[in-house]
Amino acid sequence: MNQREKEEYLREYAVLKAQGKPFFPYIIVKDGVMMIIVVASIMALSIMLGGELTAKADATTTTYAPRPEWYYFWAFELLKIIKPPALVSLAAVGIPTIAMLLLFLLPFYDRNPERHPLRRPVATTAGIFVIFAMFMLSYLGAEAGAPSQVDMDPPPAVLAADEATQTKWDAGRRLVAQSGCGGCHKIGHNGNDGPGPRLTDIGDRLKEGALRETLINPTQPMPSFAGLGPDAIDKMAFFMSTLKSGDSHSGEGAVPEGGH
Ligand code: HEC
Repeated sequence: MNQREKEEYLREYAVLKAQGKPFFPYIIVKDGVMMIIVVASIMALSIMLGGELTAKADATTTTYAPRPEWYYFWAFELLKIIKPPALVSLAAVGIPTIAMLLLFLLPFYDRNPERHPLRRPVATTAGIFVIFAMFMLSYLGAEAGAPSQVDMDPPPAVLAADEATQTKWDAGRRLVAQSGCGGCHKIGHNGNDGPGPRLTDIGDRLKEGALRETLINPTQPMPSFAGLGPDAIDKMAFFMSTLKSGDSHSGEGAVPEGGH
């Protein structure tokens, strides 16, 4: 800010100050009234509509997939993107803290007297970038399914098959979801993209027999799931054999041989 700008600013300030009203009591009263209206509206809504209560917390469950509230989806997604363990704490604590510090210190480092967004290219670009990044991260975080679940509908071929096939498909789906495969594999919207390959259309690449073999005798670092027993292996292999590209869910295609 140069001398001329400073004088101009001080002159404007003096004029505005002479026109304005004192903070106390005018602004305080205005804010107080608005706060009472907001609190009263929330109270009225909670009395009239009530709050949603979900099931009681169960400390013994292993299938519960914790999900953040929607306004934390961006942080949730950020944690998923940043993979190296050494950087995880930086992502969880560091980035939000740095952002908050930057905002807090804004009046000290941003001494630019310009107010029009077009005359402040750096600030405007940074602001648009942050808003865009948070929207994108929130969207991706909301889209991502929990790794302990596999949310998909049976492909048409399975839907058209008999009830035993459908039951087997669903049992396989649940076994895959609950066996921790999502920790290393992405399946549809669920799971992590790596270190294992995507299984969303694994049925295109491997036949049911090969899938069974992979579960029993996998390549490191994938652990063997032989301990789950032949019945579980069979159901999981059948489920995976139906995962084909072609539609966004799990694929079409015929029910593979030996599907019953
Ligand atoms: C610890 C991580 C990890 C877990 C848990 C895991 N996998 Fe894997 N999986 C891998 C890796 C890594 C590969 C690739 C191995 C290789 O190099 O061939 C793989 C390969 C596969 C393949 C072969 C993919 C292909 O394209 O050839 C299938 C099928 C598979 N996994 C299914 C499963 C299923 C089903 C589960 C759960 C029951 C599971 N995996 C659990 C890491 C894992």
